[in-house]
Amino acid sequence: MNMLRFEHVSKRYPNGTVAVDDLDFEVAEGELVTLVGPSGCGKTTTMRLVNRLEEPTSGRILLGGEDIAGVDPVRLRRRIGYVIQQVGLFPHRTVLDNTATVPVLLGRGRKAARRRAAELLELVGLDPAVYGGRYPDQLSGGQRQRVGVARALAADPPVLLMDEPFGAVDPVVRERLQNEFLRLQREVRKTVLFVTHDIEEAVRLGDRIAVFGQGRIEQYDSPAAVLGAPATDYVASFVGSDRGLKRLSVTPVERGDLEQPPVVHLSDSMATAQERMRADGVRWAVVLDEDDVLHGWVSVAERSGTPSGTVAEHARRMEAWLPLGASLKNAFATMLQYDAGWIAVLDEDDRLLGVLTPTTLHEALRRSIDADTRSVERAEVELESVSGV
Ligand SMILES: Nc1ncnc2c1ncn2[C@@H]1O[C@H](COP(=O)(O)OP(=O)(O)OP(=O)(O)O)[C@@H](O)[C@H]1O
Ligand SMILES: [Mg+2]
Repeated sequence: MNMLRFEHVSKRYPNGTVAVDDLDFEVAEGELVTLVGPSGCGKTTTMRLVNRLEEPTSGRILLGGEDIAGVDPVRLRRRIGYVIQQVGLFPHRTVLDNTATVPVLLGRGRKAARRRAAELLELVGLDPAVYGGRYPDQLSGGQRQRVGVARALAADPPVLLMDEPFGAVDPVVRERLQNEFLRLQREVRKTVLFVTHDIEEAVRLGDRIAVFGQGRIEQYDSPAAVLGAPATDYVASFVGSDRGLKRLSVTPVERGDLEQPPVVHLSDSMATAQERMRADGVRWAVVLDEDDVLHGWVSVAERSGTPSGTVAEHARRMEAWLPLGASLKNAFATMLQYDAGWIAVLDEDDRLLGVLTPTTLHEALRRSIDADTRSVERAEVELESVSGV
């Protein structure tokens, strides 16, 4: 079901600026849509139209099937949480009271509202016993942002509008907030419009991305499709020439990507194992225990002669491994980190599913780009940045 629907919505400000021009898109219930685009392209205006801080010049917006033009703005805003970059916490109220503001306004008892506020602080990763009694200026930027998110969730609105909520914090805190927000979203499943001008953030968070040009949506698609098959030259230049790399971060490692490496077991004699590796023409093998759980790896000895003992005595630890479903970017980073020519991919029980090598990584990237390219019928998508991998 569509929670939010824009029907040919335009907004011209009294000074003549056309901030948005014929927006026509919909957001499914529980979907997180990122709005991305350069400064002044109409992102904030789009948000403000949803909670009727602005009125469209033409077109209409439906919330849960209902034209919002007919809904009392105050009642409308109870169904919509709004988080802005500057958070706008009340400086003279504690964190707990800030979070409880909306439920109190909604006429819930103060006690119930505070109990709910404490739950929400917990949910956004702030211990209410530690932070509840503090004032906003006693928090870091990232913590203030979390209080802003908790407060927006306090009325349990089906829709959240977030306007560059993580824009003011440093990159490390930002990534942490993004991860926490994704975890939170999996739990609360709100319908979210999330504004950012950072394409990385749009890609990481969005189920779908709306790429804005001047007042218009240039492409509305999955992150993988926006990166792999930009609809226009504008989108291509906006997502940048390193979109092959960005795309790595949204493409998961799948079973079909994996190669089956040579395998030996812990209890095999090292002499037999080595003979087999030589016969197969390989220089190393993955070491598994009797349950096929990854233990490490062994290489063919440099020296001639017969090694003694079991594989267990010769095996080395294997640091370079990933769970199935990890992103190709993560796989690539792991390869670089351990300077490894291959990395093991494991199932939930740490059993080996196969290995990823630079070649199979490249193929996986191709596979995902080709799939999207076919679906949007684009003849050719070049793969600039990672073609050297
Ligand atoms: N109240 C207003 N009156 C007149 N023009 C406005 C008003 N608010 C915004 N605009 C103009 O409308 C256009 C879109 O503004 P908007 O704030 O939606 O952009 P934005 O995409 O959010 O930009 P940013 O990334 O800088 O926040 C801009 O040209 C802006 O100057
Ligand atoms: Mg804005």
